[in-house]
Amino acid sequence: MIIIENPIELFNICKKENSKGFVPTMGAIHKGHISLIKESIQNNKITIVSIFINPTQFLENEDFGQYPQKKDDDIDICKKENVDILFMPLADSIYGINEPKVQANSITSYILDGFKRPSHFDGVLNVLLKLFNLIKPQNAYFGKKDAQQVLLVDKMVKSFFMDINIIKCETIREDNGIAMSSRNIYLDDISTKDLIKVSQSLFDAKAFILKGELKSENIINIIKENIKSMDVNYVHIIDKAFKKCNYVRISNNIILISVNIKKINYIDNIWI
Ligand code: PAF
Repeated sequence: MIIIENPIELFNICKKENSKGFVPTMGAIHKGHISLIKESIQNNKITIVSIFINPTQFLENEDFGQYPQKKDDDIDICKKENVDILFMPLADSIYGINEPKVQANSITSYILDGFKRPSHFDGVLNVLLKLFNLIKPQNAYFGKKDAQQVLLVDKMVKSFFMDINIIKCETIREDNGIAMSSRNIYLDDISTKDLIKVSQSLFDAKAFILKGELKSENIINIIKENIKSMDVNYVHIIDKAFKKCNYVRISNNIILISVNIKKINYIDNIWI
């Protein structure tokens, strides 16, 4: 595995290779990321992983300064998983001054997670546009856990005619059901129990749907009842174009939950 810090060096190496899989991360690599890496290794000649805590996707009051960092562990994991290139740039080498920017569409990016985090998805799309242009991957791997993110990235790639497949990979869960996330590091016993309720309420909702309950309002009420003791930001059922649905259609909908636990935002979802 080679570790590269310099974007131009990465660009020059990537130029020579036509079968590239790319897994963008902000580090603190967990089993969710590892599943993306494995998927990439299986389907591409070389796999590039980036670790970059992207400052532009954090709002001022968020955990940018405290975002979990595990550089040495991350390097070990990537080596063990046979990653070919690990890209770990410094912020200064990615961003310049007075740069043009892409803007996420406000209708689809200032709702759900973007409602309390306006401009978050602008930051995500801008850094990915830069990383995609440096690497020019054929395939880029994202977890379905960040549903709004992966749908917006897919839309950007299609809107700008970029020749990249956005591969949406299943959410990986702990044995207790909670979705893997780098921010799980902040959880204590009590908050873990809360987060278990969140994932359990999604599994229950799916079971109700499979038994025939298709009215969104009823499904949402059942979920809200299960997590009523918590600080809930939203429970929504949307389709892949972010439209809220009155009735669930199997293979078309996503149930999304967002809660705050000790001021940290946790999201989970289930793709029906
Ligand atoms: O999901 C993440 O970790 C980040 O949003 C990403 C895709 C690496 C962009 O910074």
